[in-house]
Amino acid sequence: MKISPSILAANFANLEKDIKSVEEDVDYLHIDIMDGHFVPNISFGLDITKDISKITSKPLDVHLMIEEPLKYLDGFLELNPEYITVHYEIIDNEILEKIIEKIENKNKENMEEGVNKKIKLGLSISPDTPYEVVIPYLEKIDLILVMSVYPGFYGQEFIEDTTYKIERLREIIDENEYTIQLEVDGGINDKTIKLVQKCDIVVAGSYIFKSDNYKERIEKLKLMCTDN
Ligand code: DX5
Ligand code: ZN
Repeated sequence: MKISPSILAANFANLEKDIKSVEEDVDYLHIDIMDGHFVPNISFGLDITKDISKITSKPLDVHLMIEEPLKYLDGFLELNPEYITVHYEIIDNEILEKIIEKIENKNKENMEEGVNKKIKLGLSISPDTPYEVVIPYLEKIDLILVMSVYPGFYGQEFIEDTTYKIERLREIIDENEYTIQLEVDGGINDKTIKLVQKCDIVVAGSYIFKSDNYKERIEKLKLMCTDN
């Protein structure tokens, strides 16, 4: 299982230090973008993400919790994130097609310019959204992000009712031999991680950053992954 620490729970007055402290032990940096509309909170935006991308070599795992992803997409694509994930709840077919087209164009541009970066698309579902909604999109996406808390804040309690979605999506992905990555986000700690072993990527915010020893916490998470 890969680890994607959510820097939303980091200390923003010491962000570089916090990023440097986790970088070598993790696989991605999870970047939570909130607009105060889709979720009742505001986090940070493109400029800060751009600055983060300059100080890290870790691939960015961008989680857009914003009502108008298309409006801001180009800027984020310029940063060549590994994943750019949008919420099912605020898109429709037309918007998704436009997002896919923009990602494809950027990937084509990268290839032509010899930039070895292929941006991948994620689709996220909030706790009240049934897993079945992603089925029509499976041919078009690279990642499914199952939210195990209501999007908006770090430090919330893991919602156990969401785990059946992970189990079921794992079966669907495996049965159909999709290469889609399954990611879980929210309330992950050394106990709840046991419930999400079928995921490929696990996001953790407060469990890591609201502790005295980030390294130890990351190690604990890794120890609890049965595939290690
Ligand atoms: C919630 C965010 C999560 C959150 C995770 O809206 O998408 O990424 O920061 O933080 P923890 O692990 O503390 O729940
Ligand atoms: Zn997130």
